[in-house]
Amino acid sequence: MSTYVLMKILESAPNRYDRGINILTFGRLNKVYDRLVSHIKKDQQVLDIGCGTGELTLKAARKGAFVKGIDINPQMLEIARRKINDAYVSDNVQLIEKGVAELGDENPGQYDAVMSSLCFSELSEDELNYTLKMIWRILKHDGLLLIADETNPEIFFKKIIVGMIRIPLTILTYLLTQTTTKAITKLQERIVEAGFNIISIRRSKLDDFIEIAAKKPKGDEK
Ligand SMILES: C[S@@+](CC[C@H](N)C(=O)[O-])C[C@H]1O[C@@H](n2cnc3c(N)ncnc32)[C@H](O)[C@@H]1O
Repeated sequence: MSTYVLMKILESAPNRYDRGINILTFGRLNKVYDRLVSHIKKDQQVLDIGCGTGELTLKAARKGAFVKGIDINPQMLEIARRKINDAYVSDNVQLIEKGVAELGDENPGQYDAVMSSLCFSELSEDELNYTLKMIWRILKHDGLLLIADETNPEIFFKKIIVGMIRIPLTILTYLLTQTTTKAITKLQERIVEAGFNIISIRRSKLDDFIEIAAKKPKGDEK
């Protein structure tokens, strides 16, 4: 799913984001969300980082969880707000314009689960390291980290194939938006280094997309 790099173009037109991302991923992203949310249970406190137009937030709220969605893009949040209202789950959802740099405001041990799809690849290295640290802090012991994002393959021939797809798309995205996404290297290792235990991993065939479910260990202080 190396075409994810084009999502920056979609983000500049939030009204078309949902339809665009659906076409770009041949509808597969919806299944990714379903798999992430399959870990969420009724009444849990959940944080969705970079919630965008709120698709993942909505799915978790429909399962009866209480979800806070945060994002730095007010237009994306506005679409999310409309969808949450239309689905009659607004009692379960709080949407806030807030970036990962402000995660320090969240209370320690507050969440049963923190999820994020396609947002980590928009963060700088420093932001990503800080975010993992903050997620560990705000999760309850035994709490879940659920991530889906673009990754850099490690096997040489996969790197070449993915590079051949991504490089022209990255240039196009940059020309149109003056920004781009940055596929993540060694995400699994970084999550383990941050103190989590991996409970499941699913990689795309080209290793250019990963879904990870990980747990903060029970009663273990880092
Ligand atoms: C590609 S969209 C993904 C949105 C949604 N999670 C999804 O799966 O469709 C990435 C989102 O991350 C948000 N984002 C980027 N940098 C962020 C940051 N530093 N803090 C919070 N959100 C951020 C963007 O505004 C955007 O809405």
